[in-house]
Amino acid sequence: MAERECWKSRTGMILAMAGNAVGLGNFLRFPVQAAQNGGGSFLIPYFIALILISVPIMWVEWAIGRNGGRHNHGSLPGMFDLLWKNPIAKYLGAIGLFGSTIILIYYAYIVSWTLGFSFFSLFKTYFGLTSFDGMSSFLGSYQGASVGYFSSGWLAYLFMLLTFAFIFWIMKRGVSGGIEKLALFALPALFIFAIILAIRVFTLGTPDPVNHPDWSVAKGFAFLWNPNFEMLGDAKIWLAAAGQIFFSLSVGMGTLQAYASYLKPEDDIALSGLSTASINELAEVVLGAVIAIPVAVAFFGLDVTIQVAEGGSFNLAFVSMPVIFQKLPFGEIFGFLWFFLLFFAGITSVVAMAQPLISFIEERFEISHNKATTYVGIFTLIALHFVFFFFQYGFLDEMDYWAGTFILVVIAFIEVVIFAWIFGMDKGWEEFNTGADIKIPIIFKYITKYVTPIFLFVILISWTIQDAIPILMMKGISPENIPYRWGARLLMLAILFTIMYMVHIAWKKNKRKPVSFDS
Ligand code: PHE
Repeated sequence: MAERECWKSRTGMILAMAGNAVGLGNFLRFPVQAAQNGGGSFLIPYFIALILISVPIMWVEWAIGRNGGRHNHGSLPGMFDLLWKNPIAKYLGAIGLFGSTIILIYYAYIVSWTLGFSFFSLFKTYFGLTSFDGMSSFLGSYQGASVGYFSSGWLAYLFMLLTFAFIFWIMKRGVSGGIEKLALFALPALFIFAIILAIRVFTLGTPDPVNHPDWSVAKGFAFLWNPNFEMLGDAKIWLAAAGQIFFSLSVGMGTLQAYASYLKPEDDIALSGLSTASINELAEVVLGAVIAIPVAVAFFGLDVTIQVAEGGSFNLAFVSMPVIFQKLPFGEIFGFLWFFLLFFAGITSVVAMAQPLISFIEERFEISHNKATTYVGIFTLIALHFVFFFFQYGFLDEMDYWAGTFILVVIAFIEVVIFAWIFGMDKGWEEFNTGADIKIPIIFKYITKYVTPIFLFVILISWTIQDAIPILMMKGISPENIPYRWGARLLMLAILFTIMYMVHIAWKKNKRKPVSFDS
């Protein structure tokens, strides 16, 4: 077996892991989720979910990944197979591989918008469109959904190709030569950009004290931080909080495990996992929260901000923010910093989503890294076209719901059960502590074994009843979009079955060999 690649430095590895976690979720999804779910009261279930489910799952994922790496497995099918000697295990892992692959496809397209808008800010392309309607139509025409500033979506197409080329250029260079180097540069840069923007927001105060003394940054903070305990009785808030923290930390996808498989067998995971989670929380709760929402409250007041947030993450990022940049001196620079920050945040997450499938093909079919990357690249490029052309019909939303929300929880539940109950929490605890640089409080052994799976199970069931079934039945979807939504489902099913079939073939092929690859 060829020597497995390793991270070059611990700093590089932690930044790559943090780059995986810190993404559009931190800067766009979080503020919108918080605003939609009661502001300050959202943070209570959010932090409870962080400690009781996400931190234990982080450790579980790092442990599963590092163990996989010892046996040359960089993706979930093999990792689950190592922990549970049941033929089903590898197919459960295939569901995870499917999830990261689907997110890769649509997320890459969204990241390409941030690249486009970085240029549009710098060159003041949208300057002059000072209303929400004006910016909405600019965005819509960019996406090719309507005719407006742009008469067709070709520019969006170009930025999509550029982003795609950049992603796969990084992937070709491998884990330490590509992903790690990118993170060493992009993560510090994005923090610097975010801090500059946060300072700019802080110093805005009350931009229009005469006409709108009530519209201030402080009001925005107060909205985000003052809890309203009455809202905690609503199950919806708990689901939203858990969903957000999962998406944000990238758990339940196989990407953290893929990265952890490039650790050395005795490398620490206890402290590194915690550090990564802390960086992510810093980027989310501190930086993600202080930019988009407070600045919107300062310029448009609380009611309009909540309305904008109800319109979703894209509205906040691509409509409300550009309107604000036009009101600021040097707005083109701040606009550029904002969108380029999103680009860096997004690109370091996209490469993480591409990694599991590449390592699966490379390792299980024993082909070169270059070839495996090329195959995944061709596949991604084809799939991107569906997302691009059918975007306006809700194709992306359909994919995002199933892969970006539902599957995360399903996989997290499956892996905790496999790890803590089938593999066994005593052995699991040893894994957590192998090479550990900190002492994890023993209570986490019991939290991981009992609290986390029960909590997840309850979430999964309530989610299925409350959200998944209405969405499955396409409640509230406009009739003309239904065929496209079905198209998205069919495409996803086709990808799921292809991945499962590949898992089947890979295991069959390796059975015939005298020495099994996973021993
Ligand atoms: N955590 C990333 C974000 O916050 C998204 C992501 C999800 C990345 C799943 C990898 C896997 O945007």
